[in-house]
Formats: sequence, C-alpha cells, structure tokens
Amino acid sequence: RPRVLSGIQPTADSFHLGNYLGALRSWVDMQDTHDAYYCVVDLHAITISHEPKVLRRRSRVAAAQLLALGLDPQRCTLFVQSQVPEHPMLSWILECHTGFGEAGRMTQFKDKSSKNERVTVGLFTYPVLQAADILLYRADAVPVGEDQRQHLELVRDLAQRFNTTYGKMFVVPEAHIVKETGTIQDLAEPSRKMSKSASGPAGIIDLLEEPNRIRKKIKSAVTDTGREITYDPENKPGISNLLTIYSTLAKVSIADLERDYDGKGYGDLKKDLAEVVADFCAPIAERTRSYLDDVAELDKILLAGAEKAQAVAGATLARVYDKIGFRTPV
Ligand code: TYM
Repeated sequence: RPRVLSGIQPTADSFHLGNYLGALRSWVDMQDTHDAYYCVVDLHAITISHEPKVLRRRSRVAAAQLLALGLDPQRCTLFVQSQVPEHPMLSWILECHTGFGEAGRMTQFKDKSSKNERVTVGLFTYPVLQAADILLYRADAVPVGEDQRQHLELVRDLAQRFNTTYGKMFVVPEAHIVKETGTIQDLAEPSRKMSKSASGPAGIIDLLEEPNRIRKKIKSAVTDTGREITYDPENKPGISNLLTIYSTLAKVSIADLERDYDGKGYGDLKKDLAEVVADFCAPIAERTRSYLDDVAELDKILLAGAEKAQAVAGATLARVYDKIGFRTPV
C-alpha cells in the first residue's frame, strides 16, 4: 500500500468547512487505500503567539474532531506531532539544506510575516518542519488544500536535493489536492479563501458551530449580481462556492444542482444548503463532545498513535543520521 501523511494545526477551537472539504475529507477516504499517518501539528502552532493552556486544550479538541469525522485508530495512525521528537530533529538537518532565499519565497511566510508584529525564526522555518513531517514517514501522497501547494513543492525539492547529495533516502511526495474543493471561499468575501486567521465570523463555518448560527451564516452569505444559479467561479464566485459546498456535502453533481435550481432564486438555494450544512455539522459536534468526555481514553489513543509513528520516524532518522555522518541516535 502507498503511504499517506498529512497534518493540521490546532490553532482554533474548531476546524472549519474549508479544512474539511479541502483536506480532511480526503484523510478519511485515504484510510482505506493507503497506509495512513495523520498528525495534529502543535509544533507548528507555536510559530505564532500562543497560550499553553489553550494549546493543550486545542490539541485534544483537534484530535477529537478528527475521530468524529471518521478517522479510525484501527485503520490509520493518529498522533500529536510534539510526542514524536524526531520531527524537530529531522527539521534541523533539512534547515541546513534549505536556501535562505528559497524559504523566503514562501508566500505564506510573506503573508503571515507582513501581518504579525512578532515574526520569529520558527515562522520562517515552518515549511521545513512540514517537510520533516512528511519525509520521516516516506509518504507517497499528502492530502492538502490548494494553499499548501507551494510548501509541497519545497518538500519535493528538499527530498530530491538530499537524495542527490547523500544517495537515495527519501520518497519524493506528491501533493494530493482535489481540484473542485482545493479552495473553499470565505462566505462574506467570496473573492478570498475561508481562513481561520483572516476570515471574520460571518465568512467562516466552524464544524462545531451551533446549527442555528450555521443556518444564519449560509443564508447571509454574499452572492453575486444576477439571479441565475450557475457554476462560474470567475464571474460568480459566491454562488459557485455555495454550489461546491452543496455538491460535496450532499453528494450531488453541480450539473444536477444547476438543473434542480433552474428558475429558482438564490434564497431557495441558500435555504436548502443551510439545512445540508447544519445536518452535516451537528453529528460531528456531538461525536466530538463525546470523545472529549473521556479525555483519558483520547490521550490513550494518541499515545498509541505516537508510539506507532515513532517506530517509523525513528527508523528513518537513524538512516538519515548515518548518511549525514552523525553517530547513531541513542
Ligand atoms: P492548516 O492547519 O492551515 O490547514 C489544514 C488543511 O486545511 C486546508 N485548508 C483549506 N482547504 C480548502 N479551502 C480552504 N479555505 C482551506 N483552508 C485550509 C489546508 O490546505 C490544509 O490541508 N501547513 C499545514 C499543516 C501541516 C502539514 C504538514 C500538512 C504541517 N505539517 C505535513 C501536510 C503535511 C497547515 O497549515 O494546514
């Protein structure tokens, strides 16, 4: 079986619909086709300022949501990044093979560093740690949203560079980006992506949100001029985004939706979509709460995951140490 690895940051109290449609949906599917490793990347979460108590809670909430979405510890390895110390160890080695200019070209870094007052070295090396996450598991595929494409290109470059310099070591991973859902747009500003850091509350739907708030947000989503319900992301980004969300959650093709809503108005589409999204989120929130009711059991699942992950990561790191000329890690 090919191997898959992906990660998500515990930087909010809930994942949002963009995270699910762009990436997490594939995580669930790929459990059945791949040897799957998924991690909550708490090391990445401290690249912006954080509060220790909040981070600890959010890591658990993140893991509980992933289980609620359908990750099954029997079919995948689910772990928290900080419990596997090989990640920052490999990251250091890769940092020493990353050009300063190369890292400086990352658009996410440029974006975040222009917005934050506190710009750390960790924010700069963020994508190299991401490379370590992936390369440690020798992953073939990495399911992510479109916004991670550039990071994945860097990961591929680093893998190839290492292999050329020291002899074949890493698998060069492929980004797995689903074209239709790779970027879910902000509901209030459909010209930009839904984002936990940049979107206002009206633009983002959290998976753990109250059904009534979800309905309200869908109903007040910004739509486009005109009245035809047709998929045209260029000229009708608002309606097209709603059609994408609808089509994916309800498992109906966009063509069928266009046909069903022919002659109807934006309001009709929104009213139905509000129910689809609310019905999708409610059971996830409920299952998440039930995983969080038994934190001891949740922590046990994560510890078992970390042990399985570490067996793989440790073996890779030992080979890397050998290639680099280090002594065997003890
Ligand atoms: P993060 O935590 O920001 O987001 C998690 C996943 O959600 C996707 N995503 C979206 N997809 C579609 N539309 C959107 N509006 C949207 N917003 C977010 C992201 O593309 C991502 O797949 N750097 C990563 C975390 C990471 C990682 C890794 C990923 C760390 N190590 C190793 C893969 C492999 C990130 O910040 O994701």
